[in-house]
Amino acid sequence: MWLPALPTLFCTAAIIGPALATSHRTYYNPILPGWHSDPSCVYITETETFFCVTSTFIAFPGLPIYSSRDLESWELASNIFSRASQIPDLAQTQNQQGGIYAPTLRYRDGTFYLIVTNLGPDVNGLVFTSTDPYDDAAWSEPLVFSVYGIDPDIFWDDDGQVYVSSADNNMIHHYSLDLTTGEIGPVSFLWNGTGGAYPEGPHLYRKDGYYYLLIAEGGTETNHSVTMARSKSRTGPWELCPHNPVLTNRNTTEYFQTVGHADLFEDGDGNWWGVALSTRSGPDWENYPMGRETILTPVTWEDGEWPVFQPVQGIMHGPLPPKHKAKNPINKPEHLTFPPGSAIPKHLMYWRLPDESSYAVSPSDHPHTLRLTPSNYGPSYNASSQTDPITFLARRQTDTLFAFSVDLNFTPTSPHVEAGISVFLTQEQHVDLGIVDIPLPQSKVSRVIQFKTYGQGTYNGPLTNTTLDIPRKWGDKKISLTVQAVNDRTYVFSAALASQPRKKVEIGSVDARVLSGDTGRFTGTLVGVYASRGGRVGHTGSGFGGDKGKKGDYAYFSNWRYDGQGQKVDDDMIVSSY
Ligand SMILES: *[C@@H]1O[C@H](CO)[C@@H](O)[C@H](O)[C@H]1NC(C)=O
Ligand SMILES: *[C@@H]1O[C@H](CO)[C@@H](O)[C@H](O)[C@H]1NC(C)=O
Ligand SMILES: *[C@@H]1O[C@H](CO)[C@@H](O)[C@H](O)[C@H]1NC(C)=O
Ligand SMILES: *[C@@H]1O[C@H](CO)[C@@H](O)[C@H](O)[C@H]1NC(C)=O
Ligand SMILES: *[C@@H]1O[C@H](CO)[C@@H](O)[C@H](O)[C@H]1NC(C)=O
Repeated sequence: MWLPALPTLFCTAAIIGPALATSHRTYYNPILPGWHSDPSCVYITETETFFCVTSTFIAFPGLPIYSSRDLESWELASNIFSRASQIPDLAQTQNQQGGIYAPTLRYRDGTFYLIVTNLGPDVNGLVFTSTDPYDDAAWSEPLVFSVYGIDPDIFWDDDGQVYVSSADNNMIHHYSLDLTTGEIGPVSFLWNGTGGAYPEGPHLYRKDGYYYLLIAEGGTETNHSVTMARSKSRTGPWELCPHNPVLTNRNTTEYFQTVGHADLFEDGDGNWWGVALSTRSGPDWENYPMGRETILTPVTWEDGEWPVFQPVQGIMHGPLPPKHKAKNPINKPEHLTFPPGSAIPKHLMYWRLPDESSYAVSPSDHPHTLRLTPSNYGPSYNASSQTDPITFLARRQTDTLFAFSVDLNFTPTSPHVEAGISVFLTQEQHVDLGIVDIPLPQSKVSRVIQFKTYGQGTYNGPLTNTTLDIPRKWGDKKISLTVQAVNDRTYVFSAALASQPRKKVEIGSVDARVLSGDTGRFTGTLVGVYASRGGRVGHTGSGFGGDKGKKGDYAYFSNWRYDGQGQKVDDDMIVSSY
């Protein structure tokens, strides 16, 4: 047996350079699993850190910015949109696929810039700035400007003048922007792409004396692709890349489909990288509850040449920076106990702006719980037209296989008030497992576990809608509710007495296609908790909170657990979640 001369190797390494160096490693896509579309990233040389932001549509807080030192281990640095005052319109946005999407993140002279369109009741361009990407509160109120369409890019020319490129009317437009006043200059036409549908998602780069324009074409479905053009002048005329599309998985049998809406950045070692969105669906494109996720691909970009992207798959190899595990990585088992004095963790999301008074962490009479006050509507009501705040708090499904469970202490005093867990794509497409009192004749009620599916997704089979009387011996005790993705197409729902979690009663299962596409083509599945009056408006309780009903209708959640149990990375391959 041959033993390497370790001391010699060590000395050599010490002489050649830093002990830690770029290494060709295997990594897995998606790098940001779960609903993380339209990634835009920068690399900060001073701190050797990568930052990426993704779309959040009408969820709040929004525009999460993730950081990583090694492109593999990511953590949530801050939410760019964390105060209602920044985008008050979000409260009135009905469109489940509207709101805030397709941002561009850039960094210049110590400041981060985030530009995005808000598609609310009005359409506006917004620019947020910050010098501390780790602090929600450091992100500014937005500069508001008249944007042309969607997907704005922000670019500084050699003279420091700022330009926006955006997609409107199936064309890429281009105009200057004054970052002090929000005034825009005359609009010029930039490019239509190579003939694919929906030229959008532009990003402009300056390299080797050229302006490189990258866009998405084909629409954000299975024809999605990335194309490029370049010019010595900022506004063209454009020379087309001879190997367009530079990146796509269209017309392939790959498990990772819809690859497009890319951005490019260079790391500290001179390696280029591309990020893009992709859907783990295979070419059938039917079963993809996590929606559009963020993938990473190595890019070779020689001086004066066109960038060459590696095709996207689940298992990739690339010259990654040295391994550097994030302090609070996004992919780790989660156990929330809602301790007294703590805040709601910042990766949890509401649907639109919340009524903050409906959420209380560790109220003094129920420490270590999250107390929800039921909203009139809720996931338990099928209407996106309702923009009243809904009491719903959730996290992304970030793993193909996972288990999510929470204990619920809920003894409602009003019929029809319900509380439970929801696997949620939109207000019209979700699956709820909750507890509710159903009225019986002679003012009696029956307390049941109710399991309901709303919406259809890409699934054509029968939908579940069942109730089960709560076993007598469970009485008013705490109940544990669980949903588990047992394979990539089935969610199994169960309930148990919280004190006997192993004695689970299986309530039913749902096909994951119910949570794919349809009314939620751009969003991705969330899992979380809700409390609702199921659309029964204006119930006035006895001496408590008016519309909000009776104090007895509070729902107390505790012992929140989410555990990733596997990531599907190819047709027949599931790897560990962590
Ligand atoms: C670009 O596309 C728009 C919309 O389809 C069309 O009106 C316009 O003529 C096109 N311009 C060029 C230069 O192809
Ligand atoms: C993809 O493009 C092909 C060829 O242009 C077209 O026939 C097809 O309808 C498109 N599919 C989708 C999902 O847009
Ligand atoms: C898919 O491949 C077929 C056959 O090679 C080709 O005719 C078609 O144009 C391709 N479609 C797209 C959207 O690339
Ligand atoms: C929910 O609303 C959608 C769209 O309005 C409708 O198609 C669907 O049938 C409704 N589902 C249920 C369960 O009411
Ligand atoms: C579920 O079934 C009940 C009665 O069985 C019915 O009243 C209700 O409308 C159904 N709900 C859905 C969402 O299908």
